[in-house]
Amino acid sequence: MADNKSFIMPAHVGIIMDGNGRWAKKRGMPRPVGHTHGAQNFRTITRYISKQGVKILTLYAFSTENWKRPPEEVGALMKLFKQYLVEALTDFREDDIRLRFIGDRSAFDPQLRALIDETEELSASREGMVLNLAMNYGGRDELLRAVKLLCKEVQEGKADIDRLTQQDIQRCLYTAGEPDPDLIIRTGGEFRLSNFMLYQAAYSEFVSTEVLWPDFKPEDFDRAVEEFNRRSRRFGGV
Ligand code: IPE
Ligand code: IPE
Ligand code: MG
Repeated sequence: MADNKSFIMPAHVGIIMDGNGRWAKKRGMPRPVGHTHGAQNFRTITRYISKQGVKILTLYAFSTENWKRPPEEVGALMKLFKQYLVEALTDFREDDIRLRFIGDRSAFDPQLRALIDETEELSASREGMVLNLAMNYGGRDELLRAVKLLCKEVQEGKADIDRLTQQDIQRCLYTAGEPDPDLIIRTGGEFRLSNFMLYQAAYSEFVSTEVLWPDFKPEDFDRAVEEFNRRSRRFGGV
């Protein structure tokens, strides 16, 4: 990787892990096989990224719209989440990675919900990279939740409607207290957010790669960071 002084490692990286289904299809295999390979790659890539000095990594694993998929595929994904949460917990201990979950966990079955709570609790004291796993996450759902929280505060007299600020919205998001993503990478070749971090992505640099998620390698991450370093971020200024 480039070693010039101005090289910047983004503090917060988001990844839209797309392309598992196509990866399997290309090999004449059922879509869930692609998810299994994608889940394996999730561990490898997370550990690599944590070693690069990234402070927060947000991975989009399941959207609020992904329930539309055939029940067999949704079922296979839920099974994988359970399996990999257990494995990731041990795996990520060495790397001091702290796991957090963003999204509406109330829709998951009790076993998965318990696993999510347990994983968060067990890793809460870790001081390395924060890994936000976006599961049953949708940017619109997150904004609706924030609106409801703020309305409630107003209703209860805890907030003044005329004094609400963007900071109030920020503290009601799942990512409260975290900086916005600097870089969002999407694998699988599409150029869209698919409901990922709609509020937080306002000034994120977006990098799309044709590489399908199960094939995404540490070198592909390095390439995305190099691309990020070629961008000129102006945040509306000059
Ligand atoms: C991304 O891969 C994983 C999830 C959305 C859970 P896809 O399953 O969307 O794979 P493609 O886009 O159909 O290839
Ligand atoms: C986005 O991928 C969601 C995740 C990667 C979890 P999708 O495959 O669901 O997005 P679309 O349907 O191509 O927009
Ligand atoms: Mg997809």
